[in-house]
Amino acid sequence: MKPTFFLTTPIYYPNARPHVGSAYTTIVCDVLARYKRMCGYDVAFLTGTDEHGEKLERAAAAAGKSPREFVAEKRKLFVELWEKLGIPVKVYPDSDQNSLRFIYTDHPDHVTSVQRLLIRARENGYIYTHRYEGRYCVWDERYVSDNTDPVNCDICGRPAELISEDNYFFRLSAFEQRLLELYERRPDFVKPDYRMNEVKSFVRSGLRDISVSRSRLKWGIPWPDDPHQVFYVWYDALTSYMTGIGYAQGENGSAEFQKYWRNKPGESELVHMMGKDILRFHAIYWPAFIMAAYPNQPEMLPTTVFAHGWIYYEQEKMSKSKGNVVYPEPIIDALDSFGAPGNDALRYYLLREAPFGQDTSFSYEGLIQRYNSDLANDLGNLASRTLNMLHQNFGGLLPETKEPLGAGSLPQHQFRVLGNDTVRLWRSCFDLYDFSNCLDTIWRLISVTNRYLGYTQPWAMAGNPQQRDRLANILLTAVEALRVTAVLISPVMPVVAQKLWEQLGRTGQLGVFGTEWPAWDLPSDPTRLKPGTKVGTPEPIFPRLDKQRTLAKLDEFSERDRERGRPTVGALRETPLQAKLAALDRERDKPKEAVKSVQTEKTPEAAATPASESRTPSPESRTPSPESPAPSPQSPAPATAAESPKISIEDFAKVEMRTGEIKAAECIPGATKLLKLHVDIGTEVRQVCAGIAEYYEPEKLIGMKVVIVANLQPRKMRGVESNGMIVAASIGDQGRPVLVTFSEDVPNGARLR
Ligand code: MSP
Repeated sequence: MKPTFFLTTPIYYPNARPHVGSAYTTIVCDVLARYKRMCGYDVAFLTGTDEHGEKLERAAAAAGKSPREFVAEKRKLFVELWEKLGIPVKVYPDSDQNSLRFIYTDHPDHVTSVQRLLIRARENGYIYTHRYEGRYCVWDERYVSDNTDPVNCDICGRPAELISEDNYFFRLSAFEQRLLELYERRPDFVKPDYRMNEVKSFVRSGLRDISVSRSRLKWGIPWPDDPHQVFYVWYDALTSYMTGIGYAQGENGSAEFQKYWRNKPGESELVHMMGKDILRFHAIYWPAFIMAAYPNQPEMLPTTVFAHGWIYYEQEKMSKSKGNVVYPEPIIDALDSFGAPGNDALRYYLLREAPFGQDTSFSYEGLIQRYNSDLANDLGNLASRTLNMLHQNFGGLLPETKEPLGAGSLPQHQFRVLGNDTVRLWRSCFDLYDFSNCLDTIWRLISVTNRYLGYTQPWAMAGNPQQRDRLANILLTAVEALRVTAVLISPVMPVVAQKLWEQLGRTGQLGVFGTEWPAWDLPSDPTRLKPGTKVGTPEPIFPRLDKQRTLAKLDEFSERDRERGRPTVGALRETPLQAKLAALDRERDKPKEAVKSVQTEKTPEAAATPASESRTPSPESRTPSPESPAPSPQSPAPATAAESPKISIEDFAKVEMRTGEIKAAECIPGATKLLKLHVDIGTEVRQVCAGIAEYYEPEKLIGMKVVIVANLQPRKMRGVESNGMIVAASIGDQGRPVLVTFSEDVPNGARLR
C-alpha cells in the first residue's frame, strides 16, 4: 500500500480577490503535492474558503447581497485562479487523486463536522458556559477586543462599548502541559525550528481559556442545541480541514477520512501549511481542539504545521489594504505574450528567491532577472545548444557511447558523482521543505554542464570523424544532465519540464514515478534515454525577455486587470465592490495610516457627543434627499436646523459622509442640470450624478474636494448610475447649489461626523 500524504493550505477569506501573497501558499503546496506523488505517495491536497463571520457578513451587506450569495460568488474567484495556475480543482464533495480539493465552510457538511468535533470535546468536559466580557462597537456591529480595557473601534474610531454575554468557552488552559509534551515528543510538529521555539515560549507563558461562540452574530455555524449562539472564528475554520476530507460523512467519517486523516510514521503524514501570522492557531489551538475531542488518539494530530514567511512588495507585506498588491493573472499573461512560460516562471521565482520560511520581496525586476539568468541563459541555452548539435551531427538521433559519460571533463566535474549527488540532495532538500536550495542543487548541475561544454568545445569537433565518439559522449552527457533536470524541476515547473521532456524525445506524462528515482546514467533507470531516440526540434522554451518591454507589458496588463469588470472609465482603479472589500481588508491588516486618519478626523469623545449637545446641525437640514443628488434649482429652501425635528446620534451615524476629490466631470447628454462626476473617496472612485450643471463648469471642478454621502443606494438618473450624493448648500429662492468644501487639505475618504 502506498503511504498517504494529506496536505492543506489555509482556507482563505473570500472577501477579497487572491493576490500573489495569498496564492503563494497554494503554489508551494501544489509543488509539494507533485513531489510527494513522484515519491510514490497517495496524496490528498486541500484548500478552500473561510466564509463565515462578521467581516464577510458586512462585505455582503456592502455589496447589497445575502452573505450566502456573496461568498458563493467570491469563492469562484479562488477556484478560477487555482485553475489558471495550472492546478485543477474539484469542489467538495467532488474529488479526484490529481486535483486540489476545495472545501468551503458554507457547505452543510461543515455544520455536521464542527458540531461533531465540538460535541465530543463537550462530552469530555472541555466546553463550559461563561460570561464573556469584551469591547463591542455598536456602530459597526463588531467585536473589537476580548479585553475589557477601553479601546476604540479600528473602523469608526469610536470608543467600543463594554459588553458581556454568556458564551461557550473552550478549556485551552487544560492543555498547556500536554502541548508542551507534544512539542518535546515530536520536534517536527512545528516547522521551521525557530518557529517551534516561539510557540513553546508562548505556551509556557500560560494559556487562557478561549470563547468559541458569540451571541450577536448571525452568519456562522449554529451551536448545537443553542439557537442563540454561533461558532466564533477559529474553531470552525480549523475544522474545515477535517470536513474537506470527509469527516462529516458516515458515523466516523468517510473511507477517505479514515485513510488520510492519520499521522503514522512511514504510513501516513498530515501536513498543514500556512503563513506565519496564523501559526499559533494551528500549533496551539488546533492540537488542543483535537486532543479535547480525541484524547487517546495521538494519530489524529497533524504530523507537521509549517509556517512560511510573507511576500513583501514595495517594502511591506503584500496586502490589498495597503494598495501594494500584485495579482498573478496579469503576470502570467504578460510573460505568456512574449512566448515565455508565465506560470512556471512565476512559480520558479517564488520558490527560488528566498529560503522557504523566511519573508521574501517580490519585484517585477527580480522576476525578469531570475527568468533571464536562470531560465533563459542557464537552462534554455544548455537545452538549445545540445539539441542543435545533436541535429547537426547525428540527425537528431541519440548516439551511442562506450565510455562513461563526461569525456574530457575536468576532474572536479565527475558527472556520475555530481549527477547522483544532485538527485540525493534535491530529495533531501525537498523533504526539509527547503525549496530554494533544492532548485539551487539542480542549477549547480546545469551550470557545471554548461561549463563542461565551454571547456570541451564540442562545436569545434563537428565534421571531424576522429572526434565523433568523443562528440557523442559529450552530447550524451549534456542530454543526461537535461533529462535529470527535466525530472527534478517537474514539481516546480510542470509545463516547462514536460516540454523539455518531449524535446528529449520522450512521450508520456513526466513526473509520475514510483519510488525509483532518476539516477545518473544507470541502465536500469526507467526514465533513461536510449540510443536511437529521436530528439525534438530545439524550439526555445525560454525566449529572453527584454527588461523594458516586459516591464511595460506587466504594467499594461496589471492596469487592465485592475479594471476588469469595472463599468466606469479613465483613471478609476477599482470596482465599487472591490473597493468595499478593500476597506474590509484594511480592517484586518489595520494599517497604521488608516487608523490614524480615522482617529484624527475627530476625537472619540467628540464623536460620541450626542447630537442634541453638539452644535452640528442635523444632517437633514443640509443634506438633500436621496431623490435629488444635490439641491435642484426648483427645490424650496430647506428648513433651518431650529425648525427641523431632532434626530438621535444613531440616526445621524447612519449617514456615511466622506471627503472626496473630483477626478472627472462631464455633462450628460440630454440632461441640462446633471453632471456626471468621478469622485475619489480614498478606497475607490465613485460615479455620482449631481444637479449642478447650471452653476458649475465641469473643468473647474477637477481637483475640488467635496463631501459625498457614500452609503446611499445606487440609482440611475437619466440612464446613468449614480452611486452616492454630493453635499451642497441650497441658497436663495432658486436653491442655488453651493458645494461643500474644505478650507484646509483633507485626505480623501475621511469620514464626516
Ligand atoms: N481564514 C484564515 C485562515 C484559516 S485556516 C483554518 C486566514 N485567511 S487569509 O485569507 O487572511 O490568509 C490566508 C493565508 O494567506 C495565510 O496563511 C496568510 O499568511 C497568507 N497570506 C496573506 N498575505 C500574504 C502575503 N503577503 N505573503 C504570504 N502569505 C500571505 O487567515
